[in-house]
Amino acid sequence: MNAPRRIAIGSGDAASLLWIGAGLMSEAARYLVSPSGRFLLVSSAGARGPADGIRRALAGRILADLEIDDREEAKNLDAVSRIADAALAAGVRRDDALVAVGGGVVSDVAGFAAAILLRGIAWNAVPTTTGAMAAAAIGGKTGVDHAAGKNLLGAFHPPRTVLVDPAAASTLPDRDFRAGLVEAFKAAWIGDAGLAARAEGGLEKILERQDASLLDLLAGAATVKARIVSEDSREGDRRRLLNFGHTLGHAFEAAGDYRRLRHGEAVAWGIAAALEISRELSGLPEADADRVRETLRRLGPFPEPERSAEALAPYLARDKKASASGIAGVVLESIGRARIVEAIPLADWLAAAARARL
Ligand SMILES: NC(=O)c1ccc[n+]([C@@H]2O[C@H](COP(=O)([O-])OP(=O)(O)OC[C@H]3O[C@@H](n4cnc5c(N)ncnc54)[C@H](O)[C@@H]3O)[C@@H](O)[C@H]2O)c1
Ligand SMILES: [Zn+2]
Repeated sequence: MNAPRRIAIGSGDAASLLWIGAGLMSEAARYLVSPSGRFLLVSSAGARGPADGIRRALAGRILADLEIDDREEAKNLDAVSRIADAALAAGVRRDDALVAVGGGVVSDVAGFAAAILLRGIAWNAVPTTTGAMAAAAIGGKTGVDHAAGKNLLGAFHPPRTVLVDPAAASTLPDRDFRAGLVEAFKAAWIGDAGLAARAEGGLEKILERQDASLLDLLAGAATVKARIVSEDSREGDRRRLLNFGHTLGHAFEAAGDYRRLRHGEAVAWGIAAALEISRELSGLPEADADRVRETLRRLGPFPEPERSAEALAPYLARDKKASASGIAGVVLESIGRARIVEAIPLADWLAAAARARL
């Protein structure tokens, strides 16, 4: 095994260490952190292969072992309660730690459970989807959905360790694998032109899941997210850059009832729409917009979202970044450089949604 890469995220109480490398799963015991040496394992049926790997690595040190339902519909307080019930029944203490093995739903729910169990215990993330490796397991946001909206209940509670081994995603269906990569490319497009060029050039190898190319993209994306989060570990100005493609992406996702499109697929269309806005507001060169679209086409084809103004407007109006004069958005200036525009009128978002093409 080549030496893993180590990426530091945040500082002080909010510090996480991300380790990334091929073969790391088999050495998980060296990397996962628990002050007491004992772990609560939370995983899902989809992530059973990698969870078994973690079970073997932590044999004899697992206090409780729980599989949760990781459909978006089940990302709620009941799931958090079930984790708390199992942990408390097993006699969890403040110095025990949780390890979440799964996609973003598992890490969001389990990380939130860790944030509130005994007022907060340490946790570790072992992401098993490309989306969680590139985005969800990084940055310390944890939480669950509420009937009133997605991710409305939560806490900032960064994992102590994030362990990324592409092998953990080897059983991921192609559709989820490709959708998750949209988040990785998003990071490159907003923050690392060199990474974007390398990953575009190596896309065939990435889609064949060849370790070296996939690791380069995932490590690069994690580095961009770590840099932005470290500059701004609360939801301040810089962190909003990570929202590129997400303003309309969230509306596309919600308008399809979270079933029609995967998160990453909705973000792909959200990026396509943001390119239209970027050409007008930040002078994004047409050649750069074409490159981004070309890559999204190769990652896809992604199902078309519902784009009528009637379907999208209610969700846009509810956006956390909405004000009377418009909704803040992220525009691309060129590949590798993005900035925030404070109030883009609702009508402009809707026009961009209608014009977006892949
Ligand atoms: N906290 C954050 O900063 C953040 C950022 C982005 C997304 N998210 C959240 O992450 C969630 C989406 O996460 P996701 O994209 O990782 O998808 P996911 O967790 O919904 O998983 C997608 C599917 O893949 C399956 N799966 C997981 N690992 C597998 C494996 N190794 N082999 C086979 N199947 C596997 C799951 O069972 C599920 O059916 C959303 O709820 C979103 O809100 C959070
Ligand atoms: Zn996202």
